[in-house]
Amino acid sequence: MTLLAVEGVRRSFGSLVAVEGVSFGIEAGEIVGMIGPNGAGKTTTFNCISSVIDSDAGTVRFDGADVTGVPPYALARRGMVRTFQQTRELETVTVADNMLLAAPEHPGERAWHAIGRTSASAQREAAARERAMELLEVFDIAGMVEEYAGNLSGGQRKLLELARSLMLDPKLLMLDEPFAGVNPSLTDEIVGHIEALNDEGMTLLIIEHELETLTDLVDRLIVLADGEVLATGPPAEIMDNEEVIDAYLGG
Ligand SMILES: Nc1ncnc2c1ncn2[C@@H]1O[C@H](COP(=O)(O)OP(=O)(O)O)[C@@H](O)[C@H]1O
Ligand SMILES: [Mg+2]
Repeated sequence: MTLLAVEGVRRSFGSLVAVEGVSFGIEAGEIVGMIGPNGAGKTTTFNCISSVIDSDAGTVRFDGADVTGVPPYALARRGMVRTFQQTRELETVTVADNMLLAAPEHPGERAWHAIGRTSASAQREAAARERAMELLEVFDIAGMVEEYAGNLSGGQRKLLELARSLMLDPKLLMLDEPFAGVNPSLTDEIVGHIEALNDEGMTLLIIEHELETLTDLVDRLIVLADGEVLATGPPAEIMDNEEVIDAYLGG
């Protein structure tokens, strides 16, 4: 089953065409890598798919429905969740609260919730807390739960971002450079988590610069260059592709 189908996406910034005619599909259960030189349009492609920015043209189908232009929070509710190249944790908020704020519904955020609080909302909050602690333990940052997110190391922030995205129970998880600035042992740890999530049935689309890590992890690579899809195929095939080699060496 095709989980994500991107067709003819285009986005320009002034006179610069960042992405043009980008089309590809992701099958349910795949781990797909998206690579390409700096400025190739990878992040812009993610931004268009997840409606963080508007596309000039093109359509996005997800899980059997046309979701072109559907806002990010609504996409997350349908199961499409993405992380950002620059992590977006709230620095002056604790790790625990960062996790709870990601939960689909977070009672307790407004005073009237506390007053008219139903047992259903209390139960939902308890379940969200439990899930948050479980995830923080799996990701080895449970010890930091009352720490302000701003005090975490770069690597720990990446782990928090990943843990937080899982609060939304994604079908498709889109990661933008999850290994950037992360030390090798933590990279191995994140790779292990990604493989475990995929074993449980989660589909992943991962932008990454670190090709060695990615080629071992993914079933398939999509190569972007100058805002267009240059090639797609299994890692071994892509790494032998003359056009891809030229795009990297020439770029
Ligand atoms: N908000 C923006 N305003 C202007 N130009 C942008 C913006 N976002 C991206 N670009 C430009 O679009 C091109 C693609 O950028 P990006 O998608 O971030 O590439 P990648 O993630 O592959 O490194 C680059 O030339 C970049 O400078
Ligand atoms: Mg980018």
